[in-house]
Amino acid sequence: MEANNIMCYQTDKYLTFCSRLKHLLTVVYVSCKQFPTINPADGTIIAQISEGDKADVDKAVAAASQAFSRGSKWRNMDASARGKLMIFYLIARDLEYIATLETLDNGKAYSNAIFDIECSIDTIRYYAGWCDKIFGDTIPADGNLVSFTRKEPVGVVGQIIPWNYPFLMLAWKWGPALATGCTIVLKPAEQTPLTALYAAALAKEAGFPPGVVNVITGYGPTAGAAIAEHSGIQKVAFTGSTEVGRLIMTASSKSNLKRVSLELGGKSPLIIFDDVDVKEAAEIAYNAIFSNHGQNCCAGSRTFVHAKIYDQFVTFAKQLALETKVGDPFDFETQQGPQIDQEMFAKVLGLIKSAKEEGAVLETGGERQGNVGYFIKPTVFSNVTDNMRIAKEEIFGPVQCILKFEAMDEVIERANNTNYGLAAGVLSKDIDKALVFAQAVQAGSVWINCYDAVTPQTPFGGFKQSGIGRELGAEGLKEYLETKTVSIKVSMRN
Ligand code: NAI
Ligand code: MG
Repeated sequence: MEANNIMCYQTDKYLTFCSRLKHLLTVVYVSCKQFPTINPADGTIIAQISEGDKADVDKAVAAASQAFSRGSKWRNMDASARGKLMIFYLIARDLEYIATLETLDNGKAYSNAIFDIECSIDTIRYYAGWCDKIFGDTIPADGNLVSFTRKEPVGVVGQIIPWNYPFLMLAWKWGPALATGCTIVLKPAEQTPLTALYAAALAKEAGFPPGVVNVITGYGPTAGAAIAEHSGIQKVAFTGSTEVGRLIMTASSKSNLKRVSLELGGKSPLIIFDDVDVKEAAEIAYNAIFSNHGQNCCAGSRTFVHAKIYDQFVTFAKQLALETKVGDPFDFETQQGPQIDQEMFAKVLGLIKSAKEEGAVLETGGERQGNVGYFIKPTVFSNVTDNMRIAKEEIFGPVQCILKFEAMDEVIERANNTNYGLAAGVLSKDIDKALVFAQAVQAGSVWINCYDAVTPQTPFGGFKQSGIGRELGAEGLKEYLETKTVSIKVSMRN
């Protein structure tokens, strides 16, 4: 297992977990370089992290290949034994500690971090249950053949994850990879390396054979690109921007045609018909966009509201945004912490500025909060039209865009008028209306009378440029499996 050289954050508040972070001190990378990880709530350096690059990725891939080789302990382990190793019980034991690391590194409200880690436990536990339930078919083939299929792990998999749900994205990636018997080289985002390092320590504690799980910290264009280009890696799973998703596919095509699954951005529509309880609908729409500070790939970032209830809806939406408690993410009352970093902070404020210039009506927010850290006031724009930048581009911030519609056909066409297709929502008491929309919308997930109903059992992924492949559920396993057909000639068919 590759691990890291971490120097600790020296304040009283975090002393307890700093002493535990010290236990992660192990290998210094070949590169001998380091980079800081920053607390987005105050801009201070939490720790210096080892910066892996190509030489370190080579080492990790060699370890993962060895662990996957014929006759290795991992390849010869009973499938049920793999399930017993999967670290969900250790994550449950250290839930609060991991949530603390997550909040410190990412800035998300502590209550949200707890929820994320609970979802991570559920995801890994779900996949642990799959280990000994993955099997092929017997097939009545033409000719005197007895044919059957074996479902085999693809091999060494590279996993590149983002900063918005650092630990949960690791769980989505490790769950199916370990359940199918692959070995892993994972790179967390440079903004949020801490919980992935802790997960590596838990994997070691659980007793995975050496080399099965490798975590490399470092930057995208160096360590990330080295994973995408590596010919010793058979599959890469990526979550992040559409722009980098394209680079990952290019790297695959230029190297060994490794399998690629991509979970990319979105501009997901939430359609609200005029037969709903408007206050309830405003609450669902509020959570759809503001949860995780808007830094959510499936955020309901285009709120389409029927003309008949539009003004009433905008009043409720404004009120909810105004009531949001923004501040210290460790405060139990806090609902919204800072954006992840200076770059994203500037991007969101830039898009807010464009909306003001293009004539959207600013109902509330629209500016920085305080002068320390990357906090942005929850922002609501009404009178948003389809051609505005905020209606077209992924904002990834706490900015609600409220658009007006009048008819089903119109709203279907407008909802689909985007290159993205990750998710959609529809709120209506008329189930027929909701299903007409659900069938017509081009999106990988559609939520009716709710939003963000992501569960370990249900597949998640994008239509169009929101991605390739699916994660979660039984479908998520397929991305990590090859199918091998074995045919036996017999002398006679009975
Ligand atoms: P990004 O796509 O650059 O980063 C995601 C991961 O990819 C990180 O681990 C990063 O180190 C890695 N990476 C970056 N360049 C790479 C390369 N050339 N080769 C291999 N790996 C590479 O996303 P970023 O810059 O953090 O955010 C930009 C935008 O992407 C956001 O504003 C948002 O719109 C979108 N995004 C979408 C996410 C999702 O959940 N689908 C998550 C994060 C960002
Ligand atoms: Mg980037």
